Amino acid sequence: EGNRTLTELALSSLVIVYLLTVWWVKVDNPLKHSLKYFITASSGISDFPEFVGAALVDGVLVGYCDSSIRRAEPKLDWMQELIKKDPQHLEWYTQKCSGNQQVFRANINSLKKRLNQTEGVHIFQRMNGCEWDDETDKITGFNQYGYDGEDFIALDLQTLTWIAPKPQAVVTKLQWDTEKPRLEHNKNYYINRCPDWLKKYVKYGRSFLQRTVLPSVSFLQRTPSSLVSCHATGFYPERAMMFWRRGEEEIHEGVEHGEILPNHDGSFQMSVELNVSSIKPEDWRRYDCVFHVNDLTFWTFSVSPSVFPVGPVVGGVGGALLLLAVFGFSIWRRNNNGEITADFTPIMNLEFMHLVVICTYMIFLVIFLVSYLIIWLC
Ligand SMILES: *[C@@H]1O[C@H](CO)[C@@H](O)[C@H](O)[C@H]1NC(C)=O
Ligand SMILES: *[C@@H]1O[C@H](CO)[C@@H](O)[C@H](O)[C@H]1NC(C)=O
Repeated sequence: EGNRTLTELALSSLVIVYLLTVWWVKVDNPLKHSLKYFITASSGISDFPEFVGAALVDGVLVGYCDSSIRRAEPKLDWMQELIKKDPQHLEWYTQKCSGNQQVFRANINSLKKRLNQTEGVHIFQRMNGCEWDDETDKITGFNQYGYDGEDFIALDLQTLTWIAPKPQAVVTKLQWDTEKPRLEHNKNYYINRCPDWLKKYVKYGRSFLQRTVLPSVSFLQRTPSSLVSCHATGFYPERAMMFWRRGEEEIHEGVEHGEILPNHDGSFQMSVELNVSSIKPEDWRRYDCVFHVNDLTFWTFSVSPSVFPVGPVVGGVGGALLLLAVFGFSIWRRNNNGEITADFTPIMNLEFMHLVVICTYMIFLVIFLVSYLIIWLC
């Protein structure tokens, strides 16, 4: 009898150790990486640089240049470190920055002329770069242009021809299709240099790019009749999800999702708003706002504007549930003009989570060994 219980205990310990290991391995496996360049050339805006270039790795700004500073600048310490070891790299960007400035000015001028646009504000933009799937090693390149906020022309890397979705761009397409050396250069760039550089950046920025940081979340309602906003800021990576739910069900009706926006420090913010006009006060405790990042960290907050102060529900997924809940806490308060706020401060990075996992792993290992020993002794 006793032996069987112990065997069961040992087996369940093993299962838990296994699950935690799987969870841990999953934390270390990122998805796709991307290197994106954004160029914006404008005419007719007096207090904005005529040319602005930005480089983003995994959605985080790592380099910047514009027509007033006239050089490329690395952002974030790991990019600065890379530049320190390879100053040529920055030099290449600075040259590209001034070269493209001439090209884009010429482009915008010829477009304005062709479309009879003598005055007003005009904007010509390019987004190009590549994506790299860490697991399959698949590379995807892209190069597309926009004019005055609409798609203008895009490169099809399979056929090496330009695609013009608008009649205004057909003249450009026909001309660019004849520029064979440029097309070949493009092809080479997206197949070789872009992924090489992306891999280099990911290598340098690995601990920064692969960390997981949970946001601080607050609730805000401007007036009793306006939407309740659940706002998360400071999270990383960008691929995060937030939604409102009632009980276990996600709500779609009366919900407005905001865009994910970058913060200056390389983290992100977003908010999701809920129309609470038809919710009865006694139903409030069934509602919460859920934040989800990396398929793992999963946080919920109950909002109860009528019954304050109320402790939040802090939860997690699988093994993370209990562990993280122990370390999470939040302070709820309601200020004088009816704002609902909840500050949440478990800013936890991956290293810390690893530590938690390792400790738990050890504990279960000890339980397993001890129970095995007892079984063996009996
Ligand atoms: C531009 O103006 C010229 C003459 O004023 C006209 O012939 C031409 O069709 C116009 N082009 C466009 C794209 O409107
Ligand atoms: C919330 O929904 C109600 C009707 O369901 C609507 O009358 C009201 O305008 C909405 N509030 C906001 C702020 O959108």
